Amino acid sequence: MSEPTTGKVVLITGASSGIGAATARRLAADGHHVVLGARRVDRLASLAAELRAAGGQADHRELDVTDLGSVRAFAAAAHERYGRVDVLVNNAGVMPLSPVDALRVAEWDQMIDVNLRGVLHGIAAVLPLMRERGTGHIVNVASTSAHRVDPTAAVYCATKYAVLALSEGLRQESRDIRVTVVSPGFTRTELTDRGGAAEAQAAARAAMEQLAIPASAVADAIGYAIGRPGDVDVNEIVIRPTVQG
Ligand SMILES: NC(=O)c1ccc[n+]([C@@H]2O[C@H](COP(=O)([O-])OP(=O)(O)OC[C@H]3O[C@@H](n4cnc5c(N)ncnc54)[C@H](OP(=O)(O)O)[C@@H]3O)[C@@H](O)[C@H]2O)c1
Repeated sequence: MSEPTTGKVVLITGASSGIGAATARRLAADGHHVVLGARRVDRLASLAAELRAAGGQADHRELDVTDLGSVRAFAAAAHERYGRVDVLVNNAGVMPLSPVDALRVAEWDQMIDVNLRGVLHGIAAVLPLMRERGTGHIVNVASTSAHRVDPTAAVYCATKYAVLALSEGLRQESRDIRVTVVSPGFTRTELTDRGGAAEAQAAARAAMEQLAIPASAVADAIGYAIGRPGDVDVNEIVIRPTVQG
């Protein structure tokens, strides 16, 4: 079955702020039907209302990507309602930075659970639906941290390198489903607001304030990849501030 280039049913994880919210705005403006997921449902509800007021099609549902049941229910609800899931944007992520020596094991686990296991859960939830229709598109948000490692970001980088590897493997195994990795550099969002060692987090926040591009720039890249015809698979877009080293 051939994919439409607009009017797609697009699931977005981590749509309550930052890149996910900007992606929802961009895709709704492009005429896609966006389904927003995250834990902060109040944020999702007001974003969905904003998008509908602007003439877009949007709905939302509470989602915890660390819970396979929650991700499956998110995908199943959209599938039941619209009869298909055209695109999944696996965007939810966390970045509590710290040196490995600090042994902040709970935060390591959180990064693995959200950034890697969450992406796997998303794939598990939509892949059978897409395979059955013989069409679909999975967009995984990785990072420039999938390409280079920096101190205090070892575990975060490990999760993003893993997302890149996973995406490439899925792409090689797929002749019907498009797989795209979008790898942003410093982007102005809430990513540095939670967790991590104070010093590492403050340095990341300062770099973000100094260098970052708006989340809409990353959303544009995601919108571009989704908008290509079904036989064109944009495999990776790396997008970072011009001034980022
Ligand atoms: N900002 C950057 O400089 C940058 C650079 C490279 C890559 N990235 C990647 O971009 C993606 C989006 O991050 P962002 O920068 O936009 O940061 P953000 O503003 O903090 O957004 C992160 C999103 O992930 C959601 N999330 C976190 N844990 C979740 C969970 N267990 N279940 C469901 N949703 C969860 C959050 O929603 P709730 O808290 O409401 O659940 C939020 O919507 C991440 O994968 C991040 O690694 C960001």
